[in-house]
Amino acid sequence: MKNFAHRGFSGKYPENTMLAFQKAFETGADGIELDVQLTKDGEVVIIHDETVDRTTDGTGYVRDYPLEVLQKLDASYLYKKEVGFWPIPTLREYCEWVCEKDLVTNIELKTSVFEYKGIEKKVLDLIREYQLEKKVIVSSFNHFSILRMKEMAPDLTYGLLTDTWLVGAGAYTSSLGVTCYHPNYRSLVPEVVEELKAHQIKINTYTVNREEDVKDLYEKGIDSVIGNFPDMVERFLKR
Ligand code: G3P
Ligand code: MG
Repeated sequence: MKNFAHRGFSGKYPENTMLAFQKAFETGADGIELDVQLTKDGEVVIIHDETVDRTTDGTGYVRDYPLEVLQKLDASYLYKKEVGFWPIPTLREYCEWVCEKDLVTNIELKTSVFEYKGIEKKVLDLIREYQLEKKVIVSSFNHFSILRMKEMAPDLTYGLLTDTWLVGAGAYTSSLGVTCYHPNYRSLVPEVVEELKAHQIKINTYTVNREEDVKDLYEKGIDSVIGNFPDMVERFLKR
């Protein structure tokens, strides 16, 4: 079972910052999950919410600010005393950092609230520029977004994110020509797992933060867990 750090090592460090990614790497995680949105001037940045309110010391929508302004915000302000200033990273900065490392990256396109037209092409260009084709899984709750990107790059690996108990998830995923399914772990009851496996779909599930759930998913033969505590998952897997 693979161990993916959700928004980096976000259980202990400011989510979706280079610090959280570096710390995830140091725990021995197999991969990193991160979320991307577009700035006003069309830069791909790594941040979970459509607004900067929750995770930075600023307010307002990501898409209303140019990169230069966004990068002055402190994406670690909730942890300020412990870790100092960490800005919102660009996907380019992340690619530069990860390209020489033995890490898989799950890039989640946050295209469900705003479509961010053209984001798929921009993300693809970076993947190609840094030759990360074999080291990424691109996922989204917006399956249209996945199909748009797959049309441009059928050679990449894709995952369909869901937050619901879909009937026939394996048949659905396979009907779109996608190889991975990214559900909430709670929906992975035996009949769901069985149907996905019958369609040879890989299962990468989120957000798995308790050891008892890691154990249950391991016993069910789930391919990857995506969670906030990659250190805990690593200890479990070593045992
Ligand atoms: O990609 C798995 C997980 O990150 C999906 O939900 O809201 O944490 O991005 P969210
Ligand atoms: Mg995510």
